[in-house]
Order: sequence, then C-alpha cells, then structure tokens
Amino acid sequence: MIEIKERVNLKTFNTFGIEVYCDYFVEINSIANFKELIQSDVYNRNEKLIIGGGSNLLFRSDFKGLVIKNNLKGIFVVSETQDDVVVKASAGEVWHEFVLWCLNKNFAGLENLSLIPGCVGASPMQNIGAYGVEIKEVFEELQACSVINGELTRFSKEACEFGYRESVFKRNLKNKFLITAVSFRLKKNTVLNTSYGAINTELEAMQVKAPGIRDVSNAVINIRRTKLPDPKEFGNAGSFFKNPEVSVEKYEALKSTFPALVAYPLVGGNYKLAAGWLIEQCGLKGYEQGGAAVHTRQALVLININNCKGEDVYALSTFVIEKVFEAFGLTLEREVNIIG
Ligand code: FAD
Ligand code: EPU
Repeated sequence: MIEIKERVNLKTFNTFGIEVYCDYFVEINSIANFKELIQSDVYNRNEKLIIGGGSNLLFRSDFKGLVIKNNLKGIFVVSETQDDVVVKASAGEVWHEFVLWCLNKNFAGLENLSLIPGCVGASPMQNIGAYGVEIKEVFEELQACSVINGELTRFSKEACEFGYRESVFKRNLKNKFLITAVSFRLKKNTVLNTSYGAINTELEAMQVKAPGIRDVSNAVINIRRTKLPDPKEFGNAGSFFKNPEVSVEKYEALKSTFPALVAYPLVGGNYKLAAGWLIEQCGLKGYEQGGAAVHTRQALVLININNCKGEDVYALSTFVIEKVFEAFGLTLEREVNIIG
C-alpha cells in the first residue's frame, strides 16, 4: 500500500538542506507500489519529481506537484564467470553502502567511486564519476519503468548515451522513466586504477605498500573528506558546475595569458579545465552572499552556510558564472539539477 502525504517539508530530502515544501509526497518500496501510484488521481493530475538521496538537486522554490522517493532495495549477483561478476542493485540502495557491499565480496571496479552521496538509481543519470573512474566503465544495464504506463524497459550502455556528467535521462528521456535497478560488471581479479595522482600520494601517506581495492577506497575517502564539505555540516550538492571543455585554440590562448591554468588533455584534442581553479582565480573562494557561499577548500562547491533559500544559492551561482565569464570568456554550466 502506498501513502500519499500532503504538504511535506523537503529539508531532510535534499542535501543542500533547503526548506521547501511539495504539495504531495510518496515513498515507493516496490515496482508494484509504483504501478499502484500511477493509477492514482494525484499522480495523473500533477507534475512529478523522482528523488533518491536529493544530493544533486537545488530547489529554487516549493515544488507544486508530487515528489516520489524511490526506496527500492536489494542487491544480488546476476551471473559470474571466472573473471567477471554482474551485480544488480535496486535504485533505492544507498550508493556508498552498495560500494562497501562490493568491497566486502572483493569485487573490483567501484572503489574509486567510494563515498559519493545518493542512491544507486541516480548514478546513471549523470554517469557519476570521481578519481579517474565513471560508472559507464563498469555499467552493464539498467531497468526502468515508463512514467506513462509503468512498463519495464532495459537500457544497455549504448542506449544510455553516457557522457561527462551526462546521459540520455538528462536529455531526450528527461522525466520519462523511473530507474528501478542498475547492474554493473565488476572484476574478481583486481586491476587498480590509481591514475588520479592524489590517490597514489594518499596511499603513500597511508604507508600502504601493496594496495588492494579497500586501500584505494580508503584513500579516496580520505581525499574526499579533506576537500568536500559534509552536507551534515554545510548543505551542498557537490560540484555545482561542470568542468568546461574547450578547443585546443581556446586552451592555448588562455594558457598564454594564464600560465598556471589547470587543464587536462582529452582524447580527440580538446581540453578540460578545472572550474574550481577558474573560480578561485576570480577571488571567490569563501565569498558569501545571502547565506550561501563558495566553499573555502573547493571553489567548485557552493554551500548553505546560514539557512539560505534555494534562490540565494542560485543567485550566487549566477554571480559566479558572470565573474568567470568576465575573467576568462567562458560560461560555466551548472551541474546540479535545478528544480523550479
Ligand atoms: P537525487 O539528487 O535525488 O536526484 C538527481 C537526479 O536524478 C534528479 O534529476 C532526479 O529526478 C533523478 N533521479 C533520482 N533517482 C532516480 C530514479 N530512480 N529514476 C529516475 N530519475 C531519478 N557526483 C559525482 O558524479 N561525483 C562526485 O564525486 C560527487 N561528489 C559529491 C559530493 C557531495 C558532498 C555531494 C553532496 C554530491 C556529490 N555528487 C557527486 C553528486 C551526487 O552525489 C550524485 O549526482 C548522485 O548520483 C545523486 O544521487 P541522489 O540519489 O542523491 O539523486
Ligand atoms: N582547483 C583549484 N581550486 C579549487 C578547486 C580545484 O585550483 O578551489 C584545481 C586544483 O588544481 C585541483 C584541480 O582543480 O588539483 C582539480 O580539483 P579536484 O581534484 O578537487 O577535482 P574537480 O575537477 O574540482 C571533479 C569532479 C568531482 C570529483 C573530483 C574527483 C566535476 C564537476 N567534479 O572535481 O565530482 O569528485 O573531480 O574526481 O567534474 C561532483 O560531481 O559533485 C563532484 C564532487
């Protein structure tokens, strides 16, 4: 049985800790619950928003519609060979708990993605990535229900059209499917990815001689804790902007004016620029405006320092975009999903 609640405070359902209300709120614990929901008047008469952990959302105002919190649980092994194992996790599983489950079984592939907040169901939305790995590298397939008729569809990796912080679910299929489960192909024989320099530095500091996947996970956790604010302390949604991609011409022009520019070459010739560096160069680290601020340890992260409103964070993000444009002629794109 589903219970649709009226006028619910979403403060604890978004990691920015923004106090906003939705007209209706429902938690679903099974696909049967969702099929029941789509028969209801409230569902059919209102705009809908599916949420997991609310860690990549910014509510600018109250949500005039129905919020659907996905609580589908369950993790199991689908198939295995001598080298690989396919693990399926339901959408409502907490991402980091799922990573720990895989570590406990000694299944390799997700350790670099340790401690990313949120739920499994949202992980394909923006092809979550950190410390040299994106989920598309270990993604097998996902299952999703149509929001129109509840019909279950499988999506292969190709069908998801993954890119940097992108997927088809943020573009052509936006708001069309409720993701119910995601499968990953993991390795039984560990192949570590320590290409992200900070991991090796941290492993050395930890005095680990022959690292395994748990050591890499612990190194990533340590690095993340030093840079990224804990939403329990300061509300935030991680990186607020994407790192911009520029042509080699633009990169060279910027590099000659700003020799310290932080940039990474991409396959194909373009460059990715560290947006945190661009924002820091504008003197905005620690800058506060209306109860929102640019984080002092990572300028790419905007934080709620004093019970601010979503509109305050949004206004700050607009200010940051303007300042970066004035200084570098680049328009930063917001990475966080803006609601309202
Ligand atoms: P939500 O915020 O609840 O939803 C995000 C989007 O997905 C919304 O559009 C929502 O409608 C949609 N959605 C959610 N669940 C479903 C579903 N089951 N079916 C269909 N649509 C759905 N991200 C990274 O990629 N790398 C990082 O290193 C990283 N670090 C972070 C650090 C911090 C401190 C924080 C707060 C966030 C960070 N993030 C990072 C962003 C965030 O954790 C991820 O985007 C995460 O996948 C969001 O999961 P969620 O369940 O909270 O999604
Ligand atoms: N930098 C600065 N000043 C800053 C921040 C960064 O100069 O305030 C420079 C430094 O040179 C630093 C470099 O930028 O070495 C890169 O910084 P960092 O390693 O922190 O990574 P990022 O590019 O800022 C991206 C992701 C993060 C992910 C990390 C680690 C995006 C938008 N963000 O951040 O993802 O955790 O790499 O892989 O791609 C998220 O999406 O929410 C998120 C936190």
